[in-house]
Amino acid sequence: MNCFAHAAIAVALTTAIATPAFAQAKLKVGFMLPATGTYAQLGTAIDNGFRLYVAEQGGKIAGREVEYVRVDDESDPAKATDNVNKLIKRDNVDVLIGTVHSGVAMAMAKAAKESGTLLIVPNAGSDPITGPMCAPNIFRSSFSNWQPGYAMGEVMAKRGLKKVVTITWKYAAGDESVKAFKEAFEKNGGNVVKELSLPFPNVEFQALLTEIAATKPDAVYTFFAGAGAVKFVKDYASAGLKKNIPLYGAGFLTDGTLEAQGADADGLMTTLHYADGLNTPRDNAFRLAYAKAYKLQPDVYAIQGYDAAQMLGIGLTATKGDAKNAAVFAEALRKARIDSPRGTFTLSRAHNPVQDIYLRQVSAKENKLTSVAAKALADPGRGCRM
Ligand code: PHB
Repeated sequence: MNCFAHAAIAVALTTAIATPAFAQAKLKVGFMLPATGTYAQLGTAIDNGFRLYVAEQGGKIAGREVEYVRVDDESDPAKATDNVNKLIKRDNVDVLIGTVHSGVAMAMAKAAKESGTLLIVPNAGSDPITGPMCAPNIFRSSFSNWQPGYAMGEVMAKRGLKKVVTITWKYAAGDESVKAFKEAFEKNGGNVVKELSLPFPNVEFQALLTEIAATKPDAVYTFFAGAGAVKFVKDYASAGLKKNIPLYGAGFLTDGTLEAQGADADGLMTTLHYADGLNTPRDNAFRLAYAKAYKLQPDVYAIQGYDAAQMLGIGLTATKGDAKNAAVFAEALRKARIDSPRGTFTLSRAHNPVQDIYLRQVSAKENKLTSVAAKALADPGRGCRM
């Protein structure tokens, strides 16, 4: 054998040793998202956004071809542990992507923490996920429930509103959104005079709207989303409340819902980490690509799905495709500036986006950017020890 043949064998051997089996295998992405129920459309937008980013990378993440497994979680916390265990134990997924509903996401975080499976949450704002439940293998591409709520508390206090009623679904997202709103609103001189709620996902709002009318507050703060938000905005207007008692909310109230809400949403002001009309080259390019791929305008959920895929790409590039190396994956994301259509963001110590929260106002079926309500707002990450 000549020296060239020796060299060729040496190169082949080194490549084989340096390329572990997982690097050649497909990357199994487990989507746990709602496909039915009040949040179904939100799940679809997340899925669309994620797949758009992967398609832009030629169908690969960190050199590995992507394969999807999907479970409909129905936004039902009672089924969440079984559903997530199917993905972890039966399907052996490399990474979990999910979900929309905070209660379901809590079960996912618990299972991810126990099994060490990578989890990227592309919506659910449940504060504890980037608080007491924080872990090296758990990340969020979206927001904490605290963020939009807190920003709106400051906005409404600065607008001189004093007496506010809150109304939401009685579950983690609604409770945490209202709590954060109240924290900022009362710190700045406002007063929450009544906290109204109904069980998720009920939409029988009439008795509560009557109570709002009787209380005569300066304004109302709300957390609703998806199909429930459509109905709430329409019922609020039909009850004749809109012209006398201004309605505000976390931006989910009017995101992905404006076609269905029509004129009943006109003028509503909300806070969120995305807005229509940002008019940056990054957002314009994303919106164009999304509209072309899906014949739909993107919303905040599509952005969160897209960014979950970007985050997976950053982490797995650092680990050379190894989904088991959470420490290196996390180190790369902690240092990263994520080039999101919403604007560049970084991750907090607890792995939640540190991001601008925009004040938006609905006009002509768009959540038009009004101003930046809170610049680079970081969730406090209370209770995270990591
Ligand atoms: C949540 O449950 O955390 C949640 C659901 C829908 C949203 C936002 C938050 O639009």
